[in-house]
Amino acid sequence: MTKRMGYRDWGWLALWWHHFFLLWSTIDGQTRYTIPEELKQGSVVGNLAKDLGLGLSEIFDRKLRVASEAGKQYFSVDAGKGELVVNERIDRETLCGQSASCVLPLQVVIENPLQLYRIEVEIRDINDNSPNFITKELTLKIAESVVVGRRFSLESAEDPDVGSNALKYYTISKDECFSLKVKDLSNGRKAPELVLEKPLDREKQAVHQLLLTALDGGNPVRSGTSQITITVLDVNDNFPVFEKALYKVSINENSPKGTFMVKLKAIDIDDVQNGKVKYSFGERTPNAVLSIFDIDSDTGEIFLKGELDFENAATYEIDISAKDNGTPEMEGQCSVQVEVVDVNDNPPEIIFTSKPSPLREDAPSGTVVALISARDLDSGNNGNVTLQLPRHYPFKLKPSFSNNYAVVTSGVLDRESFSEYNIEITATDSGSPPLTTKKTIPVSIIDVNDNPPKFTQSSYDVYLKENGLPGSTLSSVSASDLDFGDNAKISYSILDSKVQGVSVSSYVYMNSDNGSIYSMHSFDYETLKVFQILVQAKDHGSPSLSSNATVHVFILDQNDNAPAVIYPSAALGSLSHQKMPRSAKAGHLVTKVTAVDADSGHNAWISYKLAEATDASLFNVNLYTGEVRTKRAVSEQDDSSQRLLIEIKDDGEPVQSSTVTVAILVEDGLQEPILDLRQKAPEPGKKSGRITLYLILSLASVSMLSLVTFFILAVKCVRNSRSSGSCCMRLDDLDGYNNPNRNLQIQLNTDGPIKYVEVLGGDMLSQSQSFRSCLSPMSEFSDFTFVKPSSTTDFKEMINVLDASLPDSAWTFESQQVSSEWQLIVTIMMFECRLFSDV
Ligand SMILES: *[C@@H]1O[C@H](CO)[C@@H](O)[C@H](O)[C@H]1NC(C)=O
Ligand SMILES: *[C@@H]1O[C@H](CO)[C@@H](O)[C@H](O)[C@H]1NC(C)=O
Ligand SMILES: *[C@@H]1O[C@H](CO)[C@@H](O)[C@H](O)[C@H]1NC(C)=O
Repeated sequence: MTKRMGYRDWGWLALWWHHFFLLWSTIDGQTRYTIPEELKQGSVVGNLAKDLGLGLSEIFDRKLRVASEAGKQYFSVDAGKGELVVNERIDRETLCGQSASCVLPLQVVIENPLQLYRIEVEIRDINDNSPNFITKELTLKIAESVVVGRRFSLESAEDPDVGSNALKYYTISKDECFSLKVKDLSNGRKAPELVLEKPLDREKQAVHQLLLTALDGGNPVRSGTSQITITVLDVNDNFPVFEKALYKVSINENSPKGTFMVKLKAIDIDDVQNGKVKYSFGERTPNAVLSIFDIDSDTGEIFLKGELDFENAATYEIDISAKDNGTPEMEGQCSVQVEVVDVNDNPPEIIFTSKPSPLREDAPSGTVVALISARDLDSGNNGNVTLQLPRHYPFKLKPSFSNNYAVVTSGVLDRESFSEYNIEITATDSGSPPLTTKKTIPVSIIDVNDNPPKFTQSSYDVYLKENGLPGSTLSSVSASDLDFGDNAKISYSILDSKVQGVSVSSYVYMNSDNGSIYSMHSFDYETLKVFQILVQAKDHGSPSLSSNATVHVFILDQNDNAPAVIYPSAALGSLSHQKMPRSAKAGHLVTKVTAVDADSGHNAWISYKLAEATDASLFNVNLYTGEVRTKRAVSEQDDSSQRLLIEIKDDGEPVQSSTVTVAILVEDGLQEPILDLRQKAPEPGKKSGRITLYLILSLASVSMLSLVTFFILAVKCVRNSRSSGSCCMRLDDLDGYNNPNRNLQIQLNTDGPIKYVEVLGGDMLSQSQSFRSCLSPMSEFSDFTFVKPSSTTDFKEMINVLDASLPDSAWTFESQQVSSEWQLIVTIMMFECRLFSDV
């Protein structure tokens, strides 16, 4: 509505007013109208004709009109009524601007005669303009640090209306930080100002929106607004704040480099640079931490840079600071607690606290071998070490304080079985997976002289030919000792014993170093058939140990004795004279030649042969018995003196022989051969009679004894058969008391008188030695043989028995070990033998 006037217009208006006032002074009684502005076209201002005193006819006739010096004709005259009407819209603000009064001068012109009248139309203001802000939206930037009370000028509003319609006051929307103050300027204008009532906080409210309203005094009131946007400018007034004051992180000690650990976050509520956070380690962070951890300054992520070692450091406290980019910078802090988690990365260790010492093999159980300790740098189960020893070894662990142990013996040691132990100790921790370490303790066992030397055999049999060379090697014994060194060094010696009353050391000599035994004699079987050497092997230990063995030396018979004729006993050089009756029939026993051979076995197996005879057709000599019998009846023609040369040979190699010459006198009237015998030996006749008596008595008692013996045997046999189910007449049953393995056999031919008893020693299949003990000249086929397959200690008794049975030997029977039955039989046999040989 308001129309601004041009500068030119205002000039024109001033000029116009100048003329107007000049004219006005010439006319009396001025007419003045007052109208509000903005009337509608045609609105009546006043009755001009009437006010000027003109009749209605004059108006037309005299051409009443209104002239305006200004270009615009706001008014016109209604010719019919003479009324002044509004011709055009009148805007007071355009015409008068801010002037308080606005009067529009008008010239009323009447012609015929020309008369000029001057009237005034005062234009009254109506409130048709609202207060107006030129800037509808105002933006202010205020730093948040601005102090309270500070004022900020605002743009004033314009209201072209005047008077009461002019701008009257301002209001502002409510804001806790700002208030409005209006300053009255000297020209009457009002200047609104914004006053800071409370400190600004961008972080709380970054933008304040205010609505400034300007109000005029019209009725109704008109208003205009301006939107004020206040942007609070950030000031670095906030420090970065971490989400947590303490971050806790666990990380395995074997984590690789570059492992992400934790992301820190600090928040700075300031804006932009003031709120941009850079992370870093605290200023006093030790180098140890700096070398292990790394922080990304932008993201706040912490990474592993170096290597962690739980055993070195189990925890870390890291100070982290966060700084913003403001000026001055603000700083926030937090700390990161890094807990290093132990990983089983250290194998257990076995440490020898003491050097393992060698052990005597007789060390008692519980002897300390070594002191060890175990440790593991890891912690918890990863560092819990368990030790183990090999199970089958005679050692065990004896725990002492904490992880210290003593390795002690737990059993019997024997250097001979194990001279050295390598005790492997296994240490295992309880980690997962567990780690294991092994360590070996070498333990050498010191020898103790606990083993006596041992002969290869407990007894040795040596067979030695008689008449050997003195100094020849007889035998060699050897013993071994399981011990070591001097404890195993052996010396051999011969223990003194007597052989036929002479010290055995006069027979044999022994090499003490190697056990070779040498003879110092030539032996004669006929005087010494067997003897024993007691040898001893002694080690050099301290105290020394020894063991004994027996060497049985059997002298082997050589055929070095010729048969010796016992009967007919001829005085040296003289003939043996026999008598026989002429009436003798064929088969008459003339005499019996009896010879013995000092040798034994075949060397003593004697055969008789008629070598020469006066009449070879008359006599005959039994090859085995030596009985001389007539081949035919003696006739009258036969010479009364007969001479026989009988050769007696043994079965040895070479054969030895002897001869006997028997002179036979054939007599008439001689009948009894026994008488002949009796007459033959008149001197021992009395003795013979006694012997015969003894013989009868003895035979009777022998028979009795035999009966009793066999009865006992039978009883025993029955008992044995009940328990073992077999019964036989074998000596191993009888001799079983001494040695159950022995296989000693008695071979007894009971068909006739005993010829001889033979004891077979040694292996039945190999070399067999026989000892003839007794010979009966009266029978041919009876024999009594001990068959003994191997040498035993009982052999000694046998030898003794048989030795005694020889003609020259005394009756010495020394068996202590042979069972009573066996003894009895042998006794009986011997007795019989003796009787026969005596006969
Ligand atoms: C160590 O381990 C053994 C066997 O696993 C267990 O018996 C013992 O209690 C553990 N000791 C400790 C201190 O954990
Ligand atoms: C024992 O030593 C003697 C003399 O050194 C030697 O002649 C003999 O052969 C040795 N005997 C053995 C069985 O070695
Ligand atoms: C060996 O024989 C000797 C003499 O008879 C005896 O003193 C010693 O005890 C015997 N030694 C052994 C181990 O039998």
